[in-house]
Amino acid sequence: MNNPDNNNDRSKTRLAIFASGTGSNTQKIIDYFRNDDNINISLIVCNKRGAGVLQIAERENIPSIVIEKGKFFTDGYVPILQEMKIDWIILAGFLWKVPVSLIQAFPNRIVNIHPALLPKYGGKGMYGHFVHEAVLAAGEKESGITIHYVDEHFDHGETIFQAKCRVDSNDTPDSLAQKIHTLEHRYYPATIRELITTKK
Ligand code: GAR
Repeated sequence: MNNPDNNNDRSKTRLAIFASGTGSNTQKIIDYFRNDDNINISLIVCNKRGAGVLQIAERENIPSIVIEKGKFFTDGYVPILQEMKIDWIILAGFLWKVPVSLIQAFPNRIVNIHPALLPKYGGKGMYGHFVHEAVLAAGEKESGITIHYVDEHFDHGETIFQAKCRVDSNDTPDSLAQKIHTLEHRYYPATIRELITTKK
């Protein structure tokens, strides 16, 4: 583990962020909760060595682990998460399916953000630019974001929040991705806070 946990304040609600890529949502969530009295970003979990999100963890001095497929799909890293007293798991661009072992250990405590208006444009292989390409190819007039609970199916659990944006005729996958990221950054951290506060 990098940056071993030096935060002994266990009175706060402890979040683990799972991410696979650049980590722009992770950065926004960290910024949002930086001085929060009740919520702490306690761990970054990543499945890809060299991913940008690991540099964020390093810079922010947040403990991080790079997980390994065989172990993830066996014990879901549940013992480590429990040892670190993690309360909620926040997926932010995490591209592996969440195993049942993890879902059972954190019932209704795992949240994902998807860059489209589910149930449309979800499922296996639907991530990042593949989603935006599919939305444009279908001639959709609007797209958006979905924040939802995670269950054992890809992009399937109960919806918590959605926000929409227009799709213009001259949009490209990149320009649409930018609109979606703007929505994600605006709404994901606040939705997480709302959820945790009302569920406590
Ligand atoms: C986000 O747009 C998120 O919605 C998407 O990956 C991106 C990660 O960006 N997730 C999925 O497509 C999951 N199916 P980030 O690394 O800059 O936060």
